[in-house]
Amino acid sequence: MPSEVEQPAEETVRQLRLLATPTGAAALTRAAGLLADRTDVVTALSRLRAEFGADLGGPAWGVARQRERARPVFGADADRLLFTGDTLEQAGRPGLADRRAARLLAGGVGTAVDLGCASGTDALALARAGASVVAVDRDPVARELTAHNAAALGLPVDVRDADVVDLVAAAADGQVAGCGAAVLDPARRAHGRRITDPDGWSPPWSTVTALLDAVPRCVVKVAPGLDHDRVPGGVEAEWVSVGGSIVEALLWGRGVSATWRRATVVRSGTVHELTADTDPGRAPVAAPRGWLHEPDPAVIRSGLVATVAQQLGATLVDEQIAYLTSDAPADSPWVSSYRVTDVLPFSVKRLRALLRERGIGRVVVKKRGSAVEPEALVKQLRGKGEGRAVVVVTRVADVPTVLLCEG
Ligand SMILES: C[S@@+](CC[C@H](N)C(=O)[O-])C[C@H]1O[C@@H](n2cnc3c(N)ncnc32)[C@H](O)[C@@H]1O
Repeated sequence: MPSEVEQPAEETVRQLRLLATPTGAAALTRAAGLLADRTDVVTALSRLRAEFGADLGGPAWGVARQRERARPVFGADADRLLFTGDTLEQAGRPGLADRRAARLLAGGVGTAVDLGCASGTDALALARAGASVVAVDRDPVARELTAHNAAALGLPVDVRDADVVDLVAAAADGQVAGCGAAVLDPARRAHGRRITDPDGWSPPWSTVTALLDAVPRCVVKVAPGLDHDRVPGGVEAEWVSVGGSIVEALLWGRGVSATWRRATVVRSGTVHELTADTDPGRAPVAAPRGWLHEPDPAVIRSGLVATVAQQLGATLVDEQIAYLTSDAPADSPWVSSYRVTDVLPFSVKRLRALLRERGIGRVVVKKRGSAVEPEALVKQLRGKGEGRAVVVVTRVADVPTVLLCEG
């Protein structure tokens, strides 16, 4: 659909409306079938255009492809929703949006606004959680998508054209756009590139802080790399990982904040939360022991490594590096543990010799505080042996070091 080809928003809106007709639905079903059959793009497009006309063929193929990309995260709903490439790229995970909505509305507030709705993931979650929802966006394509998607899921959402900067500037009595709760997820990409400076987000950082100051029941999605110094006082910052990768970072309004920092780790569908009411500082440092523990990235980004170290009786291997070590394995969602068999100064030659001696032919390389390229090192260390190992390349007391661990 429209994202691959730059075209005026009005044209995209017109195509989306065509796709929402019964003929459009038939074209989407046919496109999904062709995609499932792995029909090549040229054949698929020519069949779709022959059967449904040029106006519907291309857009139907585009949406079918977005739905295929969306399915792993959106599940069966993906086949009822419309996305463009841009809005799918910006979309959060519906499961996490539901979790956010539940927490935001837990105080009993009945009205919520999604400030910049894109294809509506947050607006739909707020409506599912029972709120009366307003969704705003200045982009007509986003408004069309959100209105369509809400109707497709049978959820009432009032979609409006407004500028979020103006709405937040006008917030009063703890409300914005007449709602007692708000979700703000600023656009942090432009022309396919990440915008690292929060002042360049849309809406910009000044609107983020204005919302946090004016509306106590709000949550703002921010870049996971956000500098802790930016987090305003009294605002809880939360980092969320799924399957070992950071997927979102959140700032909670002061009416919802319950702690200083929170690390939320989703592993095999189970949600684990670690909190600290004050900065736990740095964990103590000591030489590597029998076990190495790799903290989850949500623990690292939220600044809670010292909290985990204390729980595990562990120490850092180096003042600057987020690897922990202790005498015992850890049965903990906050870390992955590896039994250390050898500690040696970093040298590919020595490492190769040691692996050969141990009959280890396959390794997984992990690194922190080192410039090595893991893929290149994996190839360099590949041998004939049947054994497997984890090679951790890091620094210990600032010396480049390898911790060889059981694989
Ligand atoms: C990151 S997307 C939101 C994604 C959405 N939360 C989701 O999970 O699908 C940001 C949206 O904000 C909209 N936006 C950016 N600046 C805006 C402004 N000043 N006023 C209104 N909408 C704005 C963009 O058009 C875009 O649709």
